[in-house]
Amino acid sequence: MKNADKKTLTVQKKKKVRIGIIGTGMLGNAVGLHLLKSGFDLTVYNRTKEKTNELKNSGAKVVDSPKSVAENSELIIIVVKDADAVKKIAFGKNGIVKGRHAGLTVADMSTINPVESKKISKKFLKYKIIKLDTPVMGGPNVAITGDLVLMGSGDKKTFDRFKNVFKKIANKIFFLGGDGTAHLVKLSMNLQITMLALALSEGITLVRSAKVDPKIFLDILNSTYFKTGMSENKAYKMIHNEFDATFTLANLKKDISTITDTAKSFGVNLPMIKKAEKIYADAVKNGFGDIDYTGILAYIKKTNSS
Ligand SMILES: NC(=O)c1ccc[n+]([C@@H]2O[C@H](COP(=O)([O-])OP(=O)(O)OC[C@H]3O[C@@H](n4cnc5c(N)ncnc54)[C@H](OP(=O)(O)O)[C@@H]3O)[C@@H](O)[C@H]2O)c1
Repeated sequence: MKNADKKTLTVQKKKKVRIGIIGTGMLGNAVGLHLLKSGFDLTVYNRTKEKTNELKNSGAKVVDSPKSVAENSELIIIVVKDADAVKKIAFGKNGIVKGRHAGLTVADMSTINPVESKKISKKFLKYKIIKLDTPVMGGPNVAITGDLVLMGSGDKKTFDRFKNVFKKIANKIFFLGGDGTAHLVKLSMNLQITMLALALSEGITLVRSAKVDPKIFLDILNSTYFKTGMSENKAYKMIHNEFDATFTLANLKKDISTITDTAKSFGVNLPMIKKAEKIYADAVKNGFGDIDYTGILAYIKKTNSS
């Protein structure tokens, strides 16, 4: 091989994937900041432009449409609320498909309905775009250091092609199979989060009713096999009424409803999550939607005082 060829090969090897992020809410913003810090070129779009300011100040290119993100990127990571939002930014006015080109792949990190996700992948294929499912566990606090846990599904070859990017975003990656699978597993994870937050909230409420310090309750729980990351960390904020959102209660309610819809589609009865859906829906109705999902404790407190 000639020296010049060798040099070209090295340059090609070093060249980083041009990434786009659509949806710079709490999670998308943190993922973007970490990718910029890791040396990637980043183009971003958010429906509410002000939420791109932090990324802009850190070196991201801010554009005015998903179409423009597509034109500037090889891999677009979508981090929006739900399936309807994904469809809008993908296929709506000035959507991703309007900016399609041969080298474009899409990875959807939003937590969405797996049945909808499959349909969305199929529609992308009509435009010759491969869409991967890449939902994650962990919030902005761990996204900022690339310590999310990423679940992947879709076309394995394409997933492997972008594995280096996914490895930057997450410290653990699990590839799970065909279109939609990762979203179904992610929802099963959020089912755990829902039950843990509720179990802690009801335990704390019960010990408080007997004037027992909830810290003692947590210290005992955390001395046992039944401790969790949530009981060891967020729970101590919960007992101090600290509910600054890293993941809003409204977004968890959105996921709970997606879980119940998905259970229906797959023909399974999940009795607990149906009850949780009613509790979280009422909490949102009563104005608790914008605080952290662990604020379900504050809602339960309110139901006991009225
Ligand atoms: N935060 C977490 O810990 C976490 C962890 C894992 C997964 N997730 C998932 O990641 C996704 C984003 O969560 P987040 O916490 O970043 O939520 P967030 O802060 O509420 O951000 C939601 C994002 O979705 C956009 N969006 C909502 N509806 C839209 C629509 N119709 N068209 C276009 N954009 C729309 C919002 O744009 P605007 O700014 O214009 O409203 C914003 O960029 C959700 O699916 C969530 O379940 C979150």
